[in-house]
Amino acid sequence: MAATLTTLVNHQCRLAVRPVGLPTAANWQFTEEAVAEPTEGGVLIKVLALSLDPAMRGWMNEGKSYIPPVGIGEVMRAGGVGVVIASRNPAFAVGDHVTGGPGVQAYWSVAADQLRRSGLAKIDLRAGTLTQWLNVLGMPGMTGYFGLMDVGQPKPGETVVVSGAAGAVGQTVGQIAKIQGCRVVGIAGGPAKCEWVVKELGFDACIDYKAGPVKEGLRQHCPAGVDVYFDNVGGDILDDVLARINRKARIIICGAISQYNNTTPVQGPKNYLSLLVNRARMEGIVVFDYADRYHVAIAEMAGYLKDGRMKSKEDVVDGGIAAFPGALPMLFSGANFGKLVLKVADA
Ligand SMILES: NC(=O)c1ccc[n+]([C@@H]2O[C@H](COP(=O)([O-])OP(=O)(O)OC[C@H]3O[C@@H](n4cnc5c(N)ncnc54)[C@H](OP(=O)(O)O)[C@@H]3O)[C@@H](O)[C@H]2O)c1
Repeated sequence: MAATLTTLVNHQCRLAVRPVGLPTAANWQFTEEAVAEPTEGGVLIKVLALSLDPAMRGWMNEGKSYIPPVGIGEVMRAGGVGVVIASRNPAFAVGDHVTGGPGVQAYWSVAADQLRRSGLAKIDLRAGTLTQWLNVLGMPGMTGYFGLMDVGQPKPGETVVVSGAAGAVGQTVGQIAKIQGCRVVGIAGGPAKCEWVVKELGFDACIDYKAGPVKEGLRQHCPAGVDVYFDNVGGDILDDVLARINRKARIIICGAISQYNNTTPVQGPKNYLSLLVNRARMEGIVVFDYADRYHVAIAEMAGYLKDGRMKSKEDVVDGGIAAFPGALPMLFSGANFGKLVLKVADA
């Protein structure tokens, strides 16, 4: 045990007030606590980087969802990666790199009875970098992989459209669909993101939804219609794609970021009768349902990273825990380019 451990201070960001609309600095409260040595069976982790996810906005709301909301006064929920700095558990050694749900804080203490629920797991930095473990090898990558493969079931030659194409989930979806032999059309905001998914990731085309009507772009780039639509954004873009689906199309409802900060009810699809006409289906996915199969997807994607068939892009914000309130809203303006990561400490 390091003698300096007891002098460490944990900096935490807690939910102070539930937001109405876009979260602001007023929603957060910062606290400091002494870092405690682990008890028997426990592990202490220095957090190195946190995953900033659109889902955080939903976790800040009161009410029922697929997991309970973050309580007022609680440390904000967040996935992250870190390094073990003290351990009284034989499964984890000092120096091991780990992933799990540390929350928005600098140190994460996991007691023996919380280990299972915490999702704490070792990660192998030979398979991917720390930030790739928050991206293609992490929760967004798992979402893209299982959402596309299990729910979308793409077949070679089919047309796959993915919105939020340059983001964390979107970049994985498009690249896996290419590996499956599909025609892949992204939808993203701005020329830089569109150019990147086509030139760097090998998408066949990308529609800049900020530059003109998505409907027109779909007509141009999906001449044979849409067989699979991986929806990350909802709203009008979902309606535009619904108008172009083929018979037996599959629509994966992964998220609806265009709706998360609404102060009015969520905008549902107007063109849903297209599902009837085309004998199509629309199905939601929650990534945590696939936890027992993550290892399969991780092994496959690590292979793609190694052989160059998959690339990844992470947008790392510096500034530690204090930078969290300013960084989170980047997801909702599209200021992030790639998986949004908050650096907490040097590796
Ligand atoms: N179901 C699950 O289990 C699960 C798991 C993980 C993530 N998700 C969902 O997957 C989606 C993508 O998440 P991510 O982590 O990969 O985020 P991300 O795509 O890396 O970042 C969010 C992106 O959304 C786009 N965006 C923001 N507001 C928009 C709007 N009004 N209309 C269209 N696009 C908008 C922005 O890109 P542009 O610059 O292109 O606009 C922004 O960069 C989210 O909806 C998230 O909730 C679901």
